[in-house]
Amino acid sequence: MRLVLVGPPGAGKGTQAQFIASHLSIPKISTGDIFRYNVSTGTELGQQAKAYMDRGDLVPDEVTIGMVTARLLEPDAQAGFLLDGFPRNVPQAEVLRKLLADWDTRLDVVLELVVDDDEVVRRLSGRRTCRQCGRIWHVLFEPPSKADICDDCGGELFQRDDDREQTIRHRLDVYAEQTQPLIAFYADDGILLGLDATGPVEEITERAMIALRRFIR
Ligand code: AP5
Repeated sequence: MRLVLVGPPGAGKGTQAQFIASHLSIPKISTGDIFRYNVSTGTELGQQAKAYMDRGDLVPDEVTIGMVTARLLEPDAQAGFLLDGFPRNVPQAEVLRKLLADWDTRLDVVLELVVDDDEVVRRLSGRRTCRQCGRIWHVLFEPPSKADICDDCGGELFQRDDDREQTIRHRLDVYAEQTQPLIAFYADDGILLGLDATGPVEEITERAMIALRRFIR
């Protein structure tokens, strides 16, 4: 399956991506994770992306599109993939459509995770991420057994630099202006599937898997 997850910051894209990709046995490709890895290892790509990410702005398309194209060409993405955080605006969606058409394929479905802004702020202000395995936690909603330690791998948990309240509000504005138009873009294509992303994490995964069932080939 070739699947895109779309939704505002904090909608739970990364959380659901890890479970849905695992259920479908496809790689999860998260542009945010790839950028953060490059920032933490100090690569040229990371240096190009850092200032944009810290402000909560989108990294320029020419940087992002090149990075995603290279990732989609890797062998594990040939039979399907889950994209988390890409495309993020209509120009990126148009490039992706063209790229897949050149490879004689197309997206099967775009899953929109629907939550309101207050819930987003609650979720992001308590988010913690494992430095080692990338697992996402929340201090109240999904706490690890020991504070700041990942239950899965024992890695150290950290708070993202862009999870300060002012930056969160700016990311929500950027989402409304630049990413929200994708909803109409994919609705016109007939491949948009909206999903209520409130409630317990496992219930949302279950709802998503039921909704995606008819796209599995
Ligand atoms: P990115 O990492 O993609 O950030 P985002 O879209 O803002 O999304 P988040 O990762 O903040 O949220 P999420 O929806 O994944 O939520 P999560 O599952 O973590 O991008 C970061 C930056 O990189 C961008 O600002 C930009 O600069 C750059 N970038 C990335 N892609 C780009 C692109 N294509 N073009 C240009 N620039 C790009 O959940 C959040 C919290 O809520 C967690 O603590 C979790 O435990 C908790 N939670 C999840 N589900 C639930 C639930 N059901 N109930 C209660 N709590 C929950």
